[in-house]
Order: sequence, then C-alpha cells, then structure tokens
Amino acid sequence: MANALTLSGSIRKNSHNGRLASFMGEKLTLAGMEVNNIDLKDYPLALFNADEEEKCKEPESAIQLAEMFTNADIIFIASPEYNGSLSPLLKNTLDWISRQRVKPYHRAVFGVGAASTGKMGGVGGLGHLREILGKMGALVAPISLGVGFSNQAFDESGRLLDNPTNQRADMLVEQLMSISRS
Ligand SMILES: Cc1cc2nc3c(=O)[nH]c(=O)nc-3n(C[C@H](O)[C@H](O)[C@H](O)COP(=O)(O)O)c2cc1C
Repeated sequence: MANALTLSGSIRKNSHNGRLASFMGEKLTLAGMEVNNIDLKDYPLALFNADEEEKCKEPESAIQLAEMFTNADIIFIASPEYNGSLSPLLKNTLDWISRQRVKPYHRAVFGVGAASTGKMGGVGGLGHLREILGKMGALVAPISLGVGFSNQAFDESGRLLDNPTNQRADMLVEQLMSISRS
C-alpha cells in the first residue's frame, strides 16, 4: 500500500497546525493511503551547527526522519507562519534531514499547508517552505492549503468547518494522489 507522512512545524500543545496535519492525514487515509502522522516532539534535534554534527554524526532522530521521508510516497507539512516564513523548528528539522546519506527529498510528492489565527491562514510563510523544499530536490504540489481563523476552524472531532477550505483540502489530496501515481 502507498504510504503518506503528515507532520506539523509546531509542537505546541493544541497546535492548530498539528490539527491540520492530522486532518489531512485522515483525508489521505480515506483516499487509500497508509498514513503515519508524526509529532516532531518525538524527534528532538539540537539546533544545527557543524560542531554538533561532528560530535554526533547521525543523531537517531535525524536517521529515523530521513528514513521516513525516503520511504514516503506523499508528505504533507503543516507549517506555521512565523513572520512570513517557516518555524525554526521545521527549518532545523529539514536541515538535519538533508545531511543524512540517503536522498530524503527525492521520492515523495510534498503538500504544504498552514493554519493561523489570522485571516490569511499563514500562507505567507509557504513561499519560503516551497523554495527550500525545491532547493533540496523535492516535488511540491501546486495547491497550498491555508486555514484562517484557525482557533475556530475545526470542530470537536478535528474536521474543518469551512466548506470552501474543506474542498480545497480535497483538491490538494487529489493532486497529491495523482502526482504520486504518475
Ligand atoms: C514568532 C511568531 C510570528 C508569527 N508571525 C505570523 C505571521 O507572520 N502571520 C500569521 O498569520 N501568523 C503569525 N503568527 C501566528 C501563528 O501563525 C499562529 O499563532 C499559529 O497558530 C501558530 O501555529 P500553532 O497553533 O500550530 O502553534 C506568528 C506567531 C509567532 C509565535
């Protein structure tokens, strides 16, 4: 069975991006994917610097993440917008993964989205994320998913209340599925 990985660039308790990652994981499950929804809290990594890397060539978390990235058919990243960019946690994680010997960014098709309490849904940070993923050789689906007013966007079971946003999420899933099959 084809498999998907979903993750959030925020490890905050009750993170809205964490909700978005789980929500997309459910949609991908319904689309027939085997989904692994991971929490970056379970993969701690020091702030990258070359001395740290020299000391501990391959930290366990980076090895595990690189392996999951390498084997996934689809990877969805919910990326909180921090001042027009991605979170330091997400950038640091992507950097560590890029230093592993495998080619973690070459197999999967990536989907990107963001949730923010602002009305634009945090999509202002996704340009940088797309650029970084592209630089590392990743293929990123064209649709971006923004969830605005994210503190009131999900119901109790984690589903999106807004219909147009929900439809856009379906479109992104379709796009990811069709690119990953081709
Ligand atoms: C340092 C910082 C900068 C932020 N900058 C933006 C921003 O530029 N645009 C925006 O819509 N939200 C911005 N936010 C709000 C976050 O996107 C919002 O709080 C989001 O819910 C955080 O994601 P989380 O709920 O997954 O932790 C910022 C938050 C922080 C902490």
